[in-house]
Amino acid sequence: MQTIPAKSKFFINNGNRFSISTDNQLWLQLWRDQRIDFHQFHVNPLLEKFWSKLDLVHNSRVFVPLCGKSLDMIWLAEQGHEVIGVELSQVAVQDFFRENGLEPIKQKQGEFMLWKSGRISILCGDYFALHKTDLGVFDSVYDRAALTALPEKIRRIYVAQLRLLVPKTVNIFLLTIEDAEENETLAESMGIGEEIRTLYEKFFEIYLTYVDSMFEPDCESLHFSKRTEYKVYRLSRK
Ligand SMILES: C[S@@+](CC[C@H](N)C(=O)[O-])C[C@H]1O[C@@H](n2cnc3c(N)ncnc32)[C@H](O)[C@@H]1O
Repeated sequence: MQTIPAKSKFFINNGNRFSISTDNQLWLQLWRDQRIDFHQFHVNPLLEKFWSKLDLVHNSRVFVPLCGKSLDMIWLAEQGHEVIGVELSQVAVQDFFRENGLEPIKQKQGEFMLWKSGRISILCGDYFALHKTDLGVFDSVYDRAALTALPEKIRRIYVAQLRLLVPKTVNIFLLTIEDAEENETLAESMGIGEEIRTLYEKFFEIYLTYVDSMFEPDCESLHFSKRTEYKVYRLSRK
């Protein structure tokens, strides 16, 4: 599975020596430097296409971990949802409200600063320090480039934390970008990703809703392209 931001060599080359706190410092620096290739200047098309098809509760509250300044939160609010995001960087949170012409109210909440405007709230602070009570009640989770933003070693901890935070009735809408392995057949690579299975299957039912397969240029080779799968999963607690 790709690590986002995929274009940042810094992340890839140093993949083995991550800890959560060094990772956090790197994210804060990326936002300060505005090195935010991962940010999408449009609403994610897979969210728009599949959100309503996933048996998620309408007009309910959606938790968006590692939310950045994603416009997907605006779209979710436009669908009638309340949104509760969590984001480490104050720069990201500030930019989100300013760029969308929103005037948030700020309020200290334990270790976090809660920014709120209309239907959208963002807790500014560390996802790994969250307690259930910080989030309040929510009905679904939207994960775009949250799990996949983290280095492999930290993904296990991300999922363990998710298990603590997510009640049994809550479904997770997960988007991934997965590179086909060298020896994988098309059918294999279009199934549930091995890493997703390893990370989630003990505690979650995994449903693969959609796969979009495409050939993309391989950054490591000028002459070859690699097959990349864009996948939409729904996860529900066992
Ligand atoms: C790849 S970006 C994705 C942002 C957003 N989901 C999107 O689709 O644009 C990952 C985000 O996670 C934030 N982040 C990283 N570690 C975090 C942590 N421990 N707690 C909260 N946010 C974190 C980063 O600052 C960054 O904005």
